[in-house]
Amino acid sequence: MSSAPLPFIDLKAQRRRLGPQIEAAIGRVLEHGAFIMGPEVRELEAQLAAYAGVKHCISCASGTDALMMVLMAKGIGPGDAVFCPSFTFAATAEVVALLGASPVFVDVREDDFNIDPQSLAAAIPVAEAAGLTPRAIIAVDLFGQPADYRALQPLADAHGLWILADAAQSFGASYDNRRVGALGDVATTSFFPAKPLGCYGDGGAIFTHDDDFRDVLHSIRVHGQGRDKYENVRLGITGRLDTMQAAVLLQKMTIFDDEIAARNAVADRYAAGLPKSIAAPAVLAGRTSVWAQYTVLLDNRDAVQQALQAEGIPTMIYYLRPLHTQPPYARFPQVPGGLPVTDRLAQRVLSLPMHPYLDVPTQERILEAVHRAVAA
Ligand SMILES: Cc1ncc(COP(=O)(O)O)c(C=O)c1O
Repeated sequence: MSSAPLPFIDLKAQRRRLGPQIEAAIGRVLEHGAFIMGPEVRELEAQLAAYAGVKHCISCASGTDALMMVLMAKGIGPGDAVFCPSFTFAATAEVVALLGASPVFVDVREDDFNIDPQSLAAAIPVAEAAGLTPRAIIAVDLFGQPADYRALQPLADAHGLWILADAAQSFGASYDNRRVGALGDVATTSFFPAKPLGCYGDGGAIFTHDDDFRDVLHSIRVHGQGRDKYENVRLGITGRLDTMQAAVLLQKMTIFDDEIAARNAVADRYAAGLPKSIAAPAVLAGRTSVWAQYTVLLDNRDAVQQALQAEGIPTMIYYLRPLHTQPPYARFPQVPGGLPVTDRLAQRVLSLPMHPYLDVPTQERILEAVHRAVAA
């Protein structure tokens, strides 16, 4: 068995599978020349909305812009509190702070790594005591599994909050037979190349059932345009998805379900083959995951990571430094008693290689190395 370093995510394998189709699709864009909001963008939006089972998809330039555009459209600003996990990628809280509002950090659950409804309930009075107006929850579907939207909804209803599903990592997953995109009041996703549905650059999308909200998002996407982009009726951004990226994504959509099935097969093989001392991630009842990451918990994490690295097995730590511990976010409120689960996870998580093209022999090599590393 080779000891050559493995890729953490093998994008080249997908490229080999789809290469000619993607090159032809890009070639068609080069021919028609509608690089901004070309026909592929509209076609992709229609396909994504149908896939998610939502009335409207508004594509945009990144998952971060998608979050930002939603908060702008909802009028989030100074004095507003937006509840979100600290155990997430920076973009989730960054957009709140950029708009002058206050992220309020909530702990997560150890079983699904997602926002803990009990911790959220405890955080709402903290925001009020700080003189903030509770406005929204950003529930992140971490590592590809939806958050517990059924448990979050009554809290949102009781406090007049709306739920933004940050589904950057979970597009393609479902909860109670509803697909991501249809969960929460509004949902956003990312097409960053490493995401389960990734393009060849930056990209993102927003999902909503609401016609008026769709219209506001269309306006914000192009500098707050009114009848055209030279009539500006509100503040906006340059938030469009490139036609070229839409063309790439349309091709990737043709194999997306097959890739999700392959990711689940890889996850099943990991769960069956990991040493008993490692906590394999669970998919909770009523949910499916697209396995953006396969993240395990273990006590001697750093030593295991080093031993795997020495055998050419790359791993990642998502997230070593939760947001509430980082300088730009330290001044924002957090749930009373701190975020003990988040802090503990930061010490114990390790993400193993995960992609749809991880074949059985390669995965056996990874599993054997994990067994050796844990036993050492
Ligand atoms: C949870 C989460 N939210 C938001 C984003 C931002 O997406 P993008 O990188 O497309 O801006 C990411 C991407 O890494 C993410 O993982």
